[in-house]
Amino acid sequence: MPLTLAHPELLRNANFIGGRWLAATDRTLAVTDPATGALIAQVPDSGANEARAATDAAHAAFPAWRRTPAKQRAQIIKRWNDLVTANQDDLGRLISREQGKPLAEGKGEVAYAASYIEWFAEQATRINGEVIPAPAPGRRMFALKEPVGIVAAITPWNFPAAMIARKIAPALAAGCTVVCKPAEDTPLTSLALVALAEQAGVPPGVLNIVTASRERTPEVVDSWLDDPRVRKITFTGSTPVGKHLARRSADTLKKLSLELGGNAPFIVFEDADLDAAIDGLMAAKFRNGGQTCVCPNRVFIQDAVHDAFAERLVARVAALQVGPATEASSQIGPMINERAVEKIERHVQDAVARGARILTGGVRLPALGPNYFAPTVLTNADATMACACEETFGPITPLTRFQDEGEVIAQANNTPFGLAAYFYSQDIRRVWRIADALETGIVAINEGAIAAEAAPFGGVKDSGYGREGSVHGLEDYLHTKYVCQGQLD
Ligand code: SIN
Repeated sequence: MPLTLAHPELLRNANFIGGRWLAATDRTLAVTDPATGALIAQVPDSGANEARAATDAAHAAFPAWRRTPAKQRAQIIKRWNDLVTANQDDLGRLISREQGKPLAEGKGEVAYAASYIEWFAEQATRINGEVIPAPAPGRRMFALKEPVGIVAAITPWNFPAAMIARKIAPALAAGCTVVCKPAEDTPLTSLALVALAEQAGVPPGVLNIVTASRERTPEVVDSWLDDPRVRKITFTGSTPVGKHLARRSADTLKKLSLELGGNAPFIVFEDADLDAAIDGLMAAKFRNGGQTCVCPNRVFIQDAVHDAFAERLVARVAALQVGPATEASSQIGPMINERAVEKIERHVQDAVARGARILTGGVRLPALGPNYFAPTVLTNADATMACACEETFGPITPLTRFQDEGEVIAQANNTPFGLAAYFYSQDIRRVWRIADALETGIVAINEGAIAAEAAPFGGVKDSGYGREGSVHGLEDYLHTKYVCQGQLD
């Protein structure tokens, strides 16, 4: 099916550097539809030259942008939000086509992305410093907030609009300039967002984007890592890559925000409202086909309610409609690529070999296309299984039975990751005991949908550091300058 947009000019196939759209000079990267493998577009497969040109442009633009009054920066970012919102349908179509999430979810992601842009536009005018009471006479002391400088944003494929928005909007609000490399699987949404930022009046050089294949990404990123002018890296992706970025940026001591892998536990206690818990699990687990870093990866159900919960869950999961993103009835689209499906299949096979039982799903769906996998519920899962140790990033729900609170907390925390955790209980004392005991950056209590622009999103342990969204997400793009004036008496 052809990709038809109301505004076809949103489909860009060039880098944007220094306010100019620059087509590929040598190599190109094919962007394909994960549902069919069909070619959607070719974009530049950039390398070190393009990365350096982007840094040069961001460096040249920084002095003027940081001095632009906050109100003016806020107005430009607000216009960006308005344009993103006005183009929700086209952007939703682009997301669905290159990433594979159902169209309604694609449009929902655009609204989610816009919520960050709007929030940070408003926040741009509230970057206040402090007046510090001086400990000695004749002095005035201040803590001023300043933009960190050039920010390199490296974004993932699973939320091609929202992750750009929640990294770039606060950077612009703080007065930083940006170089960005979107995920190789989903560059088109990012390019469209940058085209809208240009239309909104973001000055040349303030926002630059270069696209690159998986093979050439290290060339682009190494150029930014080695360049002392780049003062911050913000990255969402895997833990090994995050650790590599942390090591490689040590020589230039860049500030880092790393939003890395998760292995979220989802715990249902016997006193939980089971209907609410099932609704929460369905929402959290199957959003984007299970391809989110906060989605439940391990599901622990207390013995007394395990069987009833499993039976009701299986009925809901088996009823999910799997199909192309373009079909209104689809609730789960294709997985992003063959590597993703192979990992999901490996996790299911490993779990079964170690004693898990498939209650529904567990297979590829080749009749639909190359990258479809059936929503799956497994029972008898345990900590030895790959699906309990690694992030599956797919529509698999492994259930583990537990007896008591101490045992389940030990299991929930038995992972190097610490991004999100979910639990359901109606006992107010237990609620706070468990919330305190979970070693994660995000805790969801009787709730499956946790992300919001005004909330701090991020993890602990191997899930990274730094926060996105909220005042904390803006603070990560600022540094504090202490100013002391003497001789005032
Ligand atoms: C992610 O999976 O990387 C982000 C999910 C979210 O924003 O809710």
